[in-house]
Amino acid sequence: MGEAERWLGTAVNSETLFYGVFGDPVRHSKSPAMLGRAFQAAGLNAVYGAFHVRPEQLRGAVEGVRSLGFRGVNVTIPHKVHVMEYLDEIDATASLAGAVNTIVNKDGRLVGYNTDGIGYVRSLKEETGARIEGSSILMLGAGGASRGVALALASERPARIWIANRTKDKAVSLAEELSRLTEAEGIAWEGIDHIIGKVDFVVNTTPIGMDPNTHETPIEPSMIVPGTVVSDLIYNPLITKFLRDARSRGAVIHGGLGMFVYQGAYAFEYWTGLSAPVEAMRSEVLRLLDNAGGGGA
Ligand code: ATR
Repeated sequence: MGEAERWLGTAVNSETLFYGVFGDPVRHSKSPAMLGRAFQAAGLNAVYGAFHVRPEQLRGAVEGVRSLGFRGVNVTIPHKVHVMEYLDEIDATASLAGAVNTIVNKDGRLVGYNTDGIGYVRSLKEETGARIEGSSILMLGAGGASRGVALALASERPARIWIANRTKDKAVSLAEELSRLTEAEGIAWEGIDHIIGKVDFVVNTTPIGMDPNTHETPIEPSMIVPGTVVSDLIYNPLITKFLRDARSRGAVIHGGLGMFVYQGAYAFEYWTGLSAPVEAMRSEVLRLLDNAGGGGA
């Protein structure tokens, strides 16, 4: 009998390690089920809860991690930036992204990491086999999600990144930040059709096409060039209209589920030092999506 079977079904006891996610709202989160499954598969006596923490309670909640000895927490919307001021140390991935989604409690010292961008890159590489180094990339959108992913992609030494955004100023200022790492340019949304034929990757970071607006897509299908890798951060639905169109145009497609699973897998690895049971985590999220619908960390 393996560790998993031995622990499975036993109650919380005085040895149980505590983890969780802080968010507002948080009831839609799939992280408790996904990380709960990961702890179970790894045979760890640990639980992971969802904590509804409002912005004015964030400081106290982080203090609670320290004083109650939680081993780690994830933080999600709207806390990823503000939480940084309450931590003892910010890892390079998080300072680059300007946001923290994972806190590790190292004997009372709280260290902030960002696993969103590296989770995205790991999933993109593993699921498409595509090479990022030397490639050119077009990102659609310049919000918080775009920022973490763009910085992680820029760290992989692509030749060039274009950011297209409805509000051009935001694209320009994100591109300015990226230019420390790679060639980068911010363009207006209308400029997409001049660039799309020149790139290896197109990445949608906007919420366009997310449930319930599943009939929407960020760009006209006819703009998609065969052979391009087309990626969408959305995982609900698993295959957006944007990806369906891209597949029928002969593109290689990549959905957002892997990013969600791997951001959780990296958090698990930082907390436990064990390699994450990624397939168990992925099938747990797929099971939840099958049963319900609704997305988000
Ligand atoms: P997040 O932090 O989750 O990325 P966000 O900061 O609200 O969310 O950013 C959403 C991104 O999608 C932004 O780039 C936004 O464009 P603006 O900066 O112009 O607001 C983009 N976006 C949202 N809805 C859009 C739409 N209907 N058309 C084009 N872009 C849209």
